[in-house]
Order: sequence, then structure tokens, then C-alpha cells
Amino acid sequence: MARIGLFFSSSTGNTRRIARAIKKRFDDETMADALNVNKASAELVAGYTHLIFGTSTLGGGQLPGLSTDCMGGGWEEFLPQLKDVDFSGKTVALFGLGNQEKYPDEFVDALGELYHFVVARGAKVVGAWPADDYDFISSKALLDGEFIGLALDQENQKNLTDARVEAWLKLIAPEFGLPF
Ligand SMILES: Cc1cc2nc3c(=O)[nH]c(=O)nc-3n(C[C@H](O)[C@H](O)[C@H](O)COP(=O)(O)O)c2cc1C
Repeated sequence: MARIGLFFSSSTGNTRRIARAIKKRFDDETMADALNVNKASAELVAGYTHLIFGTSTLGGGQLPGLSTDCMGGGWEEFLPQLKDVDFSGKTVALFGLGNQEKYPDEFVDALGELYHFVVARGAKVVGAWPADDYDFISSKALLDGEFIGLALDQENQKNLTDARVEAWLKLIAPEFGLPF
């Protein structure tokens, strides 16, 4: 089994594209796949010590899922399946996509939901990210003035995404035993 499991949920494909770009940075032994949660199982997630979860925010602050027209379902349906997974001893890094201009009061809120879910089950979350270079009003993904994971905005700051992903992977590298 690969060392890092990457699971994501996506409606129009933006989060999927980022997940695949992250996967491409690793060989198959480090990360076998970037898997849509609608094809995943709790057993698969539970088997990893190192996890990366990716999500967009939809429907005004919501996790992607059937209620936000996410085909095949998303985190909304998958999180309940993970409710009995013990995350203690697991290291989790989170990235989230949102639109700060159109949804400034709920920017990347779903990232906050994933954070609270895994922390409540004992996870160590790494990869907090500075909120300085964004323009929004509020976000459930903020803790002590920082995002609890990587925030990306493909509608308004697409030109910053590649560098942000690269810097964030470097940031989490020591915790994940990554080769860079
Ligand atoms: C109906 C709808 C609701 C959205 N609600 C939010 C929101 O509450 N907060 C936010 O930051 N972005 C919101 N967005 C922006 C998406 O998160 C953004 O477009 C993202 O890149 C979509 O990624 P995906 O294609 O992987 O789902 C919304 C987008 C749509 C279409």
C-alpha cells in the first residue's frame, strides 16, 4: 500500500484537477492514486497513516454532495461513512477550493468542516496556510488567523495556484516524509 492516501470531492472538476496535479508529484509507491470519495470506502481511508483530503465548497458554505448536484455524491455522503474511523495516529493535510469574490462570507467553509470532523476523531492536522493574500470577509476554515489547510481560488487567483500547491507540499513534506 502506498504511504499517502489522497481523497477528494469535486463538482465541476476543479478540485479533481488539483488532486491529480498533486498526485503527479509523487511516484506510485508514495501515492498510488487521487481518488474521488464517491469511489472510496472507509476501510481504504482507515488503512492510511498519512492522508490528504481535498474539497470544494458549494451551495453557500456546504460540502460537495448530492444536495449540491455533485454527481455520484461527495464528502456530504462520505463523511458519515467515516464516523467510526479512528484518526488518532493519523496525519491529515487539507486543501480546499472556493471563490472569495462571489462567496466572501463563506470562503472555503467546507475545508473547516473537514478539519473539525477529523480533529474530533483524533487526527493531527498539518499544513496551516497564511490568509494574507486573499480578500474575503469570513471563513469557517480560519483558526487563529490562518487557514487550517491550503485555500485555492481558481476563479480569481488561478495564476497563484501552482506556486501555492508547491509551497504547501514543501510545508507538509517533513510531516509526510516527502522527498522534497
Ligand atoms: C452553486 C455554487 C456555490 C458555491 N458556494 C461557495 C461557497 O459557499 N464558498 C466558496 O468559497 N466557494 C463557493 N463556490 C465556488 C466553488 O467552490 C469553486 O468554483 C470551486 O472551484 C469548485 O470546485 P469543484 O469543481 O471541484 O467543485 C460555489 C460554487 C457554486 C457553483
